[in-house]
Amino acid sequence: MELYTPEVMIAEDEIVTRIEALGKAITKDFENEDLVVICVLKGAFVFCSDLIKRINLPLKLEFISLSSYGDSTNSSGNVRLEMDITANIEGKNVLIVEDIVDSGLTIKTLLEMLAIRRPKAVRLASLLFKPMNLKHKVHIDYLGFEIEDKFVIGYGLDYAGRYRELPYIGILNAGN
Ligand code: PRP
Repeated sequence: MELYTPEVMIAEDEIVTRIEALGKAITKDFENEDLVVICVLKGAFVFCSDLIKRINLPLKLEFISLSSYGDSTNSSGNVRLEMDITANIEGKNVLIVEDIVDSGLTIKTLLEMLAIRRPKAVRLASLLFKPMNLKHKVHIDYLGFEIEDKFVIGYGLDYAGRYRELPYIGILNAGN
């Protein structure tokens, strides 16, 4: 497999600085409260891992796996629940951690799924937001970066399962 170095869209140090600020804001907003953090696999695992280290609160971590893209660069339009959380979130403060809000379909579906379980409050942290593709209105409480309409990879985000390990957000160029 040949080595390919994608163009950098957001450098590692910019991500670190932004996550510190998000962690501080979350810590302040949930002061004296417990928090259940739900990491949306797979893409959000790197962001979530760095973010929770910056949240100074008693939190519990849960994972949920949702998938709509398969190996394509376009959403299939269906969101599949591949793995559910194990905790009961009734009456709890929930922070969903996503890597990217693109069409908004994944988050819309997840919010509907969680609302039925009657949490106290649900907030959303997303590292990236691509407004150009938005089809479902989504409010992002803690946003890392708004980005232009490019297919991004790295820092947890993949193309056909690859590039998640890149320490920065890169741009996938056609032909790679
Ligand atoms: C990606 C990403 C978000 C979702 C955003 O997940 O991690 O969950 O797409 O797109 P949307 O706003 O258009 O719904 P993907 O289905 O690629 O799964 P993955 O996280 O396992 O890579």
